[in-house]
Amino acid sequence: MTAPPPPSGAVIVTGSGSGLGASTAVALAERGYRVVASVHSRDRTAGLDALLARSGAAVEVAELDVTDHAAIPAFVAAAAARHGGLHAVVSNAGVSGVDTFENEDLASYRRTFEVNVFGPVALLKGSLPHLRAGGGRFVAVSSIAGVLGLPFQESYSGSKFALEGVLEAFAPVARRVGVAVSVVEAGPMSTGAARVADWDRVLAGAGPYTKVLRRYLDNAIAWRAELPGMPATQTAAEVAAVIADLLGRDDPPFRCQTAPDTRRLVARKLADLDGAAAGAVTGGWLDPVPFGTVE
Ligand SMILES: NC(=O)c1ccc[n+]([C@@H]2O[C@H](COP(=O)([O-])OP(=O)(O)OC[C@H]3O[C@@H](n4cnc5c(N)ncnc54)[C@H](OP(=O)(O)O)[C@@H]3O)[C@@H](O)[C@H]2O)c1
Repeated sequence: MTAPPPPSGAVIVTGSGSGLGASTAVALAERGYRVVASVHSRDRTAGLDALLARSGAAVEVAELDVTDHAAIPAFVAAAAARHGGLHAVVSNAGVSGVDTFENEDLASYRRTFEVNVFGPVALLKGSLPHLRAGGGRFVAVSSIAGVLGLPFQESYSGSKFALEGVLEAFAPVARRVGVAVSVVEAGPMSTGAARVADWDRVLAGAGPYTKVLRRYLDNAIAWRAELPGMPATQTAAEVAAVIADLLGRDDPPFRCQTAPDTRRLVARKLADLDGAAAGAVTGGWLDPVPFGTVE
């Protein structure tokens, strides 16, 4: 039996120049969607170019800075006009960072929220007239950090919580005007996010947090980067396939985790009425490794 053809209309994927965005754009093109791969800058598309060369699939590449809110309505309208409507938007563009709470300044919070919260909100606002017209979908790439606050990633976690809060509030309303809104909660991926150099910088300036940060990093090394309760690292291609499957569903859920261990962690948090279970998971990453638990 062959799969039904994908619906007509464009699928915009933001932040497609690298990482998960590039993999998602290519995975959707391979399934027959008309993909508008929106990239932050045409000068940084090496990740996308390499995947396209390997795949043979075709996407339309267009430049969009998701913090340029004024440009979004015209960008979306032009994509819809070129492709006979707008079927879906995958809001993937995002930034992350690590720091101690005391060292990260508010300007850094604002930069993170500009890309991870206000960008997707502006994108959804600009897309809705087109999505409503054709019963479309809006899928935002969140993270386990959208449900579980991660140590030394306060601004990132806060931004993904905010994103999920806005979309959770709007999703049932959107459904009643014919638009499905979903968030995709991924665990760690082997993409651009946390870099060793960033941790070295944070550790060098950690001051009173040096001991607890050192222990966190040592624990990550001791458990070979698989802290207890932390989902296993996935490739961008694996997560992209989950997003493509979600877009193909007749009745997509609001929350979608990208792997069974991610689902278990999110389930634990969502049933955690007093916050103790979440604190036990992430707090445990900051304590000495119990004797005999590491191979
Ligand atoms: N990596 C992980 O472990 C992980 C885990 C869970 C969720 N996520 C989420 O997955 C998504 C993709 O991240 P990734 O890991 O694939 O990292 P990535 O390779 O750094 O991809 C992020 C993309 O967003 C683009 N971008 C940044 N600011 C932008 C802006 N203002 N306008 C338009 N595009 C912008 C970047 O373009 P430039 O590089 O050209 O700026 C880049 O192409 C993010 O939402 C992230 O929060 C990541």
